[in-house]
Amino acid sequence: MQPIRLVTALLTAVALVVPLSATASAAPPTADQHGKTLRQAAPKKFRIGSAVAGGGHHETMPYPDPFSADRPYRDRLAAEFSSVSPENQMKWEYIHPERDRYDFAAADAIVRFAQRNHQVVRGHTLLWHSQNPAWLEQGEFTADELRAILRDHVRTVVGRYQGRIQQWDVANEIFTETGELRTTDNIWLRELGPGIIADVFRWTHQADPHAELFFNDYGVESVNAKSDAYLALIQQLRAQGVPVHGFSAQAHLSTRYGFPADLEPNLKRFSALGLETAITELDVRMDLPDGGVPTAEQLTQQADYYRRTLTACLNVRGCDSFTIWGFTDKYSWVPVFFEGEGAATVMWEDFSRKPAYYALRSTLADRR
Ligand code: G3I
Repeated sequence: MQPIRLVTALLTAVALVVPLSATASAAPPTADQHGKTLRQAAPKKFRIGSAVAGGGHHETMPYPDPFSADRPYRDRLAAEFSSVSPENQMKWEYIHPERDRYDFAAADAIVRFAQRNHQVVRGHTLLWHSQNPAWLEQGEFTADELRAILRDHVRTVVGRYQGRIQQWDVANEIFTETGELRTTDNIWLRELGPGIIADVFRWTHQADPHAELFFNDYGVESVNAKSDAYLALIQQLRAQGVPVHGFSAQAHLSTRYGFPADLEPNLKRFSALGLETAITELDVRMDLPDGGVPTAEQLTQQADYYRRTLTACLNVRGCDSFTIWGFTDKYSWVPVFFEGEGAATVMWEDFSRKPAYYALRSTLADRR
C-alpha cells in the first residue's frame, strides 16, 4: 500500500474511534451501510450534491479540466451525488465571455451529465460582484444598456436550461458582513440600484417558471447582521409579489473557528416565511500541520462540523438540498485561497473516504 494510503487508512481508522465528544464521534460505517454511496443513503427527495470542478482556480493548476479529463472523478460524482452545481462553468466570465458571444459548452456538458445520471442541477449564478468578464466590468454602458444586458443574459442562460435547473442562485453575496448592500463592488447594484434585485428574480422566473429562485451567501450560517438583512429583504420582496423561493447558506467553515451552533434556528427563520432553504457550498478547512497531513483529532472535528451542518438542514422543513463544494481534496479551491489551510473535503486526493464522508453517510442513513 502506498505511504499516503497507509497514512490515510490509519488516520481514518483512528479518527473514527477518537470521539471529540459523546455526540461528535464519527460513527463507523455499520454493516448495512458498507458500500452504500451518499445518494443511496439519503432519504428520498433529499438532494445530496457537489460542486463540479472546472474553471476558476483549476485553470491556474497543473492538471487538465477535472470534469472532462478525470474519469474516476466523474464516476464518483455520478455515484455519490443526486445534485450537481457547476463550480464556475455557469458564471458570467465563462458562459458569456464576450458581449455578443455565449459559450455554453462546459455548462451543457454538466447538464447533460446530470440528466444521464438522474441528478438535479443548481444553477450558479446570475447576479454577483465577482467573476464577471472584463467587457462588462470595464465597459462604458448607460443604465438602460446595462439593464438590457442583464435581462438578455438571464433570458438567454436561464431560458436555455428551462426545466433542467432545480434551483438557481439568482443573487449571490449581495450583502456585506454588516448587512449593507454591496453598492460598491457589485456592478448591478452600483449602476442600477437595489431595484434590480426584484427585476432579476422576475426575469429568471419568466425564463424558467419551474426553477426555485434563491439568494445565496457565505457568513450567513448564524443569526447575524448579514442573515438579518436577507430575512428583511426577502420579506419585503415577497410582500411585493417578487418570486423569491429560497435562501441558502454556503457554509464555508473552518475548524479554526467554532461551529455556527445557531444554524438550525437561523434556517428555521426563513423556513417560517414559507421559503426553501439549502446548504450550497459546504467545506471544512483546517490549519495543516507541517507535512500537510491532518491529525486524527482534526479529522474528527471536521467530521463533526459536516455532521452538524447536515443535521441542521435535515431538521429544517424545506431544507432538501445539501451541497458540498467539491468532494475531493484533489480539486479543492481552499489551498489556493487560504495558504496553510486545506484538507477541506470529504475524500482524500485518491478519492479514499475521510471520517467526514462516513459522518455524512451515517447521518443520511439514520433519516431514511
Ligand atoms: O481571473 C483571474 C485571471 O485573470 C488570473 O490570471 C488568474 C491567475 O491568478 O486568476 C483568475 O482568477 C481566478 C478566479 O476563480 C476567476 O476565474 C482565481 O485564480 C481563482 O482562484 C478563482 O476561483 C474560483 C472562485 O470562486 C472565484 O471567486 C473557485 O474556483 C471557485 O470554487 C469559487 O467559488 C465561490 C463560489 O462561486 C461562490 N461562493 C464562494 C466560493 C469560493 O470562493
